Amino acid sequence: MRIHPFQALACPLDGDVLHKSGNTWRCAAGHSFDIARQGYVHLLPVQNKRSRDPGDSKAMVAARRRFLEAGHYRPIAEAVGRAVLDEASGDDTLRCLDAGCGEGYYLRRLAETAIEAEREGGQARGEALALSLLGVDISKWAVLAAAKRQEAATWVVGTNAHLPVQAGWLDRVLCLFGFPVYPEFARVLKPGGELVMVEAGPDHLRELREIIYPSLKPPREGREAVPEGFTRRSGETLRFAIELEDAESIADLLAMTPHLHRASAEGREKAAALSSLALTVDVRLTRLVRK
Ligand SMILES: C[S@@+](CC[C@H](N)C(=O)[O-])C[C@H]1O[C@@H](n2cnc3c(N)ncnc32)[C@H](O)[C@@H]1O
Ligand SMILES: [Zn+2]
Repeated sequence: MRIHPFQALACPLDGDVLHKSGNTWRCAAGHSFDIARQGYVHLLPVQNKRSRDPGDSKAMVAARRRFLEAGHYRPIAEAVGRAVLDEASGDDTLRCLDAGCGEGYYLRRLAETAIEAEREGGQARGEALALSLLGVDISKWAVLAAAKRQEAATWVVGTNAHLPVQAGWLDRVLCLFGFPVYPEFARVLKPGGELVMVEAGPDHLRELREIIYPSLKPPREGREAVPEGFTRRSGETLRFAIELEDAESIADLLAMTPHLHRASAEGREKAAALSSLALTVDVRLTRLVRK
């Protein structure tokens, strides 16, 4: 399995093709973007930032990395890997964007899954599979953490609202616990390309929510509508149990979810007093095909 750098970046100021020379990406109009020492490029113009330090903070990114690296969501990463690599042939490079990639766990796991699949006989399908991987996140801290851990992929600080990617270039877009912008995902996918989404289901982390909130909101309805430009391929529910066995992992989980900010001080105190917690993971994995 080979991982190629992602070549089809677009200028965040005018959408024109970016060309790489040395450590700089440049468009024809002369806008230029330097690749940072740590290997990522910042393609988020000031006018697209809603705050000075948008997206997840350094502490949230570190908490998510520790939690994910402990393997608690590994079954989710495996299901995402299967969805992405399903029907991938070795003849072409599979181009995949993780939109809102966080600290890069799912793209790292995807590369590992591709290697494992090959070992288990995938080679019979023809030539070795090649992947071109791009991770985009609005948080500089997330992208920095991702770039440190996987050098073969391309890492970009940018926004899903205006993806710095040329139109019709991608075979797969991932949006995992993220902020989907469907018209942008439709623009950057090839016809027949797939959007793979993971979203929290009604029972996701219910036991934690029962502790930190006085009452639970009823689950949101009507999220099944298929966005314009897509057809629905499949939906599967992943449900499994996890056990957090120390206060640090519970604190990490709380820090990486929106619950930390939504819970009351009393709710946070209750969570901080826990030394173990058994939890339900309940997520929906949906595959949508670009028409
Ligand atoms: C709940 S986290 C999920 C991260 C990763 N997909 C995962 O599951 O580990 C949401 C991520 O979206 C990023 N984010 C927020 N707004 C964004 C935007 N407009 N464009 C791209 N990323 C965004 C945050 O910085 C954060 O890393
Ligand atoms: Zn430009």
